[in-house]
Amino acid sequence: MSERAQFATKIGVIAASVGSAVGLGNIWRFPYEAGAHGGGAFISIYILCVLFLGIPVMIAEFIIGRSTHKNANSAINTLVPGSKFRYVSYVGICASVMILSFYSVVAGWIVEYLFQSIIGNMTGHTTQEYSNMFNSLVGSPYRSLFWTYLFLIANFLILRKGIQKGIERISNILMPVLFVLLLVFCINSLTLPNAKEGLKFLFSPDFSQVSPSMVIGAMGQAFFSLSLGLTCLLTYASYFSDKTPLVKSATIIAVLDTCVAILAGIIIFPAVFSFGAEPTAGPKLVFEVLPNIFQQMPGGYLWAVAFFVLLFFASITSTISMSEIVITFCTEEHNMSRKKATRLNTAIALVLGTLCALSFNLLSDIKLFDKNIFDLFDYVSSNILLPAGGFILAIFVGWIMDKKIVKEQLSNHGKLNVHTMKPIIFCIRYVAPIAIALIFLYVTGLF
Ligand code: TRP
Repeated sequence: MSERAQFATKIGVIAASVGSAVGLGNIWRFPYEAGAHGGGAFISIYILCVLFLGIPVMIAEFIIGRSTHKNANSAINTLVPGSKFRYVSYVGICASVMILSFYSVVAGWIVEYLFQSIIGNMTGHTTQEYSNMFNSLVGSPYRSLFWTYLFLIANFLILRKGIQKGIERISNILMPVLFVLLLVFCINSLTLPNAKEGLKFLFSPDFSQVSPSMVIGAMGQAFFSLSLGLTCLLTYASYFSDKTPLVKSATIIAVLDTCVAILAGIIIFPAVFSFGAEPTAGPKLVFEVLPNIFQQMPGGYLWAVAFFVLLFFASITSTISMSEIVITFCTEEHNMSRKKATRLNTAIALVLGTLCALSFNLLSDIKLFDKNIFDLFDYVSSNILLPAGGFILAIFVGWIMDKKIVKEQLSNHGKLNVHTMKPIIFCIRYVAPIAIALIFLYVTGLF
């Protein structure tokens, strides 16, 4: 790439990264993972993962991207010529296509729910009816494929026409609106009859429930939600200016993203316990709970429509950011035209997305380790590939690349006085890689 644009303002940097980070990961995946793993204990471990793994790995990605203004592969090759660490971009590409595939299926459900709320179907039913509604959507191959394809085509057209900057700008306006909407839903949920029970589930940890699957789930959720490990934020940071304060930006992004997830939890769990849903319902959890919330609010129709529109934008800024990884790699490293790279990315997502959408119906019998294709893609990419990518990036920044550059990046060439420099470097060198390795060993039973 001959000329690389830069983010003009601090807000631009943070807004684009938050746009990538805030998405279905916060509002759909976080509540169901928390619900499936016992609530409070999961959230405590999740927050530890954000603090000690997420923020350091995010800073590591920022350091590599900003110091070189290049994509992951060239950046690593520039910092340490010939280093094999550049192959981390292949882990990123694999994770990216896998995530895009199952993410598009869920985003497709969001589009169908938007449609259903527009035609007025999101109010006036019982929990059981909402549950049936969701089951009939995912149970129908045609309907799930239709919405998945529609979402992928929208993603394709945005990338193809090069209007992702425009979408990001719209979404920068809409994200604060989403935040306010979530606050309103949150207050509403706190007035529900069994709100206390929901909050207790969410915030009083029962550490006897800690298990390998919970710990890896919390780590994977932290990486997924913060868009880490697949060099997405590394690529964003390659557009940062020399003035962007890396530590502060990473902290703000992580805090905002975590706030959105916790808000989603405070919305969902009081409702789960008030409307007789199961916290362990899995991917369908928010889809059967949310309509219940809308319908008991005054003006529920409008709340539902607004919510799904906003969630759609939150999802598409996330899929744009994943797709950009694949496209930048193809164009900058393999001299492919942008058009061709965009087509390739979409074609792969269409094929893999089809498998994910069909794994709830025609292909539901295909299971590996008791997981269907959708769950398998989700598990392998979020819980294995992203932390593995984060591990490699942390080792690279902590041990391989020039320490002088690391310090220059953290302090903006000495212009900033970063008090937390030492603990951050310590986390990048020791805490993050060792914790990720130990969690992998714990889950495989070797430790
Ligand atoms: N963080 C996004 C979400 O929570 C998903 C996402 C976007 C992502 N880009 C990513 C996840 C890169 C991992 C890596 O919905």
